Amino acid sequence: MNNFPISTIRRRFTSLQGPFTYLDAPGGSQVPDEVGEAIADALREAAANLGAGYPSSNRAQAILEAAEANAAALLGCGPEEVTFGTNMTTLNFALTRTAARDMQPGDEILTTALDHDAGVAPWLELAEDRGLVVRRVEILPDTTLDFEDLQSKLNNRTRVVAFAWASNAIGTVTDAARVCQLARDVGALAWVDAVHYAAHEAIDVRRIGADVLLCSPYKFFGPHLGLAYVAADVSASWRPYKARPTPNTPLGRRLSTGTFPFELLAGFNATTDYLKSIGGFDAIAPYERALGQRFLSGLPDTVTLYGLPTMEGRVPTFLINVSGLDGTELARHMVGQGIGVWAGDTWYALDLYQRLGYERTAVRIGFVHYNTAEEVDQALAALASASDQS
Ligand SMILES: Cc1ncc(COP(=O)(O)O)c(C=O)c1O
Repeated sequence: MNNFPISTIRRRFTSLQGPFTYLDAPGGSQVPDEVGEAIADALREAAANLGAGYPSSNRAQAILEAAEANAAALLGCGPEEVTFGTNMTTLNFALTRTAARDMQPGDEILTTALDHDAGVAPWLELAEDRGLVVRRVEILPDTTLDFEDLQSKLNNRTRVVAFAWASNAIGTVTDAARVCQLARDVGALAWVDAVHYAAHEAIDVRRIGADVLLCSPYKFFGPHLGLAYVAADVSASWRPYKARPTPNTPLGRRLSTGTFPFELLAGFNATTDYLKSIGGFDAIAPYERALGQRFLSGLPDTVTLYGLPTMEGRVPTFLINVSGLDGTELARHMVGQGIGVWAGDTWYALDLYQRLGYERTAVRIGFVHYNTAEEVDQALAALASASDQS
């Protein structure tokens, strides 16, 4: 933990200079100042559309091309395989509809009991419209994916296996390469929700063998945007919903709708520059794991943790309750101690919520690379004092 330059990193965030401790990154992270500055610069200098040939338009063009290249480097794909959108949910509704244009009634989609509903609802709505069948893959009691159940549900009608790489509620990580391989074995598309994972670990779509992968830069120190990878052979086979004059190349742009949010793409470029400057996820992941381990090791006995009890197979996102307290009371206590967390019921993971079985709400505590060991200790002290109150 010692050689991660945490003090230098934190100085790049105005929002981290005050006394408040942000442990709420799973809902949207803090953003380094340079991202906001890049957005403001773009609004000053690149407020134009593409193709006009004068400087502001050329700047907008350069921002878009840089964003495609940066997204490609981040995800391990080609720039023509990248699409931007409003957020993951909107992109997923659009891409699922495009993918389903050649699906037939009775075709099957698998989702999992770990998923955020943004990865499930688009398929359920399509099933309603088009007679598709959505089947849910179960989890084991320890909250990891039940691969036997997955294998038993794959068949020659399976068209898509959609799954969350990491759970936004409890942090459990799924072996994405294994799921993608099983999907491919039956000729189905591997459709990955990497929204939660992307803030914690490096992504390489080729290594895991994904066909489609979605994430949201606002979860990893960037602006409010959605980002998708669609494998070139897959998007080339799709007939996208698009305005007719929209260019057909690069492929990813065919899947975008309307004018690009150039200022947010400029912010995204600043985000990827920021990540590179601190050593990327190779530097981030071990530091975060140490924070997570410190938290797990110090948890008071009064805390119930939902999910994996070690850092093996998880990212440092923890869902908890303290005995004798409602989640809302616990969150209020922590906010009173200067810690930004809140209590939620389903955390949008509807199936998981049913399986975890807590009453009403639980509090989610998420550590990312800008958090410190002292903040972990502050959270542990707040949990201990919450226990005293109960
Ligand atoms: C795992 C996961 N998937 C999907 C989403 C939806 O993302 P967005 O807010 O970009 O639509 C979230 C948001 O919290 C998430 O955590």
